[in-house]
Amino acid sequence: MRIGVLTSGGDCPGLNAVIRSVVHRAVVDHGDEVIGFHDGWKGLLECDYRKLDLDAVGGILARGGTILGSSRVQPAHLVGGVERAKGHVADLGLDAIIPIGGEGTLKAANLLSEAGLPIVGVPKTIDNDIASTDVTFGFDTAVTVATEALDRLKTTAESHQRVLVVEVMGRHTGWIALHSGMAAGAHAVVVPERPFDMDELTSRVGERFEAGKRFAIVVVAEGAKPREGSMDFKTAGTDIYGHERFTGIANQLSVELERRLGKEARPVILGHVQRGGTPTAYDRVLATRFGWHAVEAAHRGEFGMLTALRGTDITMVPLAQAVETLKTVPADRYDEAECVL
Ligand code: F6P
Repeated sequence: MRIGVLTSGGDCPGLNAVIRSVVHRAVVDHGDEVIGFHDGWKGLLECDYRKLDLDAVGGILARGGTILGSSRVQPAHLVGGVERAKGHVADLGLDAIIPIGGEGTLKAANLLSEAGLPIVGVPKTIDNDIASTDVTFGFDTAVTVATEALDRLKTTAESHQRVLVVEVMGRHTGWIALHSGMAAGAHAVVVPERPFDMDELTSRVGERFEAGKRFAIVVVAEGAKPREGSMDFKTAGTDIYGHERFTGIANQLSVELERRLGKEARPVILGHVQRGGTPTAYDRVLATRFGWHAVEAAHRGEFGMLTALRGTDITMVPLAQAVETLKTVPADRYDEAECVL
């Protein structure tokens, strides 16, 4: 069998573990040939690839990022993109393509699958918002990084009697904010699923100081928004792909809290540090299992499918189903946490 693999969209700790696993299972166990496209779908569209053998994936299990590179280019965004991708797959004699990616990548994978290409998807995102899998690799690493940062920020916040407003990733969902906030014992957490009330947030933080506490930590997911009319709020426009930019919520909240409470408040934007560096053991194991199962699915001819974790098992789910909706945090998870507004 000849398999093409690519990593597309925002990078994520564990991508290299999937690539390595695909090569190990395919090349060593099945005697397949594997090629890796550079920079996501762009590599497939431009026929830019390299052969992946055991040497190529040596020592990458613990490495962050992706040895293949990534981009946000999507075949549907380019004139004739789908036809071009089909042509290259035929020219290269590929029997299977394994795209590893998040929401946008999997939508493109579904489109190409519907156009007749033999696709087995692997979900990834630190945001953990892919509906068909219980967990995506990268999430555990991001939560671990954010939790460590929150632990560290507590000591400096306390020294200065400050409010620290810490922005974590999560454009549509509050998974990272919820888990890191719970793990670090944050005093308030705001998430995209529930527009927050600024008066309520102010009271929550203010009551802490009134009770004699010396500091407060507020965790805010980058996609969180205030309830209509609850504060002046400026959005930051879109990037060159038309995606909403998230550059403002922690800044705006810290200014507003400082003004309302008369307490020093500072913003901290953790940003891409949550996506960089070595994956946790959990993420390496999940990524490795996904890679192994993707190769097996390809050998069974199970195309148009996605690897998914359900409970402790890896199963295959239809790509079309996987891209229907995002996995938001269920409301009861917020109730349990007791720190989410
Ligand atoms: O989707 C993963 C993610 O890390 C989001 O949490 C974040 O909004 C986005 O990617 C950032 O993307 P970029 O690297 O293109 O700025």
